[in-house]
Amino acid sequence: MDWGQKNRISKVIRPKTGKSVMLAVDHGYFLGPTTGLEDFGKAVKPLIPYADTLFLTRGMLRTCVDPNTDVPIMLRASGGTSIIGPELLHEGITISIEDVIRCNAVGIGYSITVGMPWERDTILDFSKWVDDCNRYGLVAMAVTAVGKDMVRDAKYLGLACRMAAEHGAHVVKTYYCDQDFEKVVNSCPVPIVMAGGKKIPELDALTMAYNAVKAGAIGVDMGRNIFQSDDPVAMIQAIREVVHNEAKPEKAYELFKKLRKPGHSPKKTVVDQEEQDEAKV
Ligand code: 5RP
Repeated sequence: MDWGQKNRISKVIRPKTGKSVMLAVDHGYFLGPTTGLEDFGKAVKPLIPYADTLFLTRGMLRTCVDPNTDVPIMLRASGGTSIIGPELLHEGITISIEDVIRCNAVGIGYSITVGMPWERDTILDFSKWVDDCNRYGLVAMAVTAVGKDMVRDAKYLGLACRMAAEHGAHVVKTYYCDQDFEKVVNSCPVPIVMAGGKKIPELDALTMAYNAVKAGAIGVDMGRNIFQSDDPVAMIQAIREVVHNEAKPEKAYELFKKLRKPGHSPKKTVVDQEEQDEAKV
């Protein structure tokens, strides 16, 4: 691996701990406005100081994030379908490598949809991203998106993560499963970050992150369980305690409660929030 690529990876996975708290705020690319991110710039700004990397679309980056920021950027590079369309996750390439570089991003995240009828297209497109990222020294992260009829178990996630690594991913983002998550991690030779999934109670989300890291994940690329939390800024700090300082979930939850401020909970103003909550994404 070239110096530039190693250097960019070190922006995402912090060398001091070998861990990462990536903040995923790319959801609008298929959900549109979602609770907690309606006013994107206002919601994300106070979280940036606690994020090791921001994972978002180029549109939100250009319109809502201060270019003077120090936070490393990973860009969502797939999309094309929406929560109301007939084929959610039938995604293709939505940005060029030139524009990724122009945005000064350290890398991209691309969803592969193993088991869906269009799995082949997403694997082949992801492989092209690996080539592009290797050519320019960027980081290619595969996101193992799970179709609505798939089960999020170690068998499925293990298959998807391993395939991502076999096709050259430098980092893999996947969901957590209660049973045998360490088998998913152990059979994937590249670093794994855990996606948070739907909003769950804070202590449960901290416990899930703790268990994922204990099983060998190098951290999280978490979205809704941070920005839809009762207090997003308190929650991201609690997540950091778990990921970087190996805090037990109960201890991190105590920190969350200590930092939590009244009135910081996002209001549910999004018109289709109930549909979003019911969708299996
Ligand atoms: C979908 C995604 C999401 O857009 C997002 O990044 C997931 O984050 P979270 O589940 O923690 O809200 O990757 O495949």
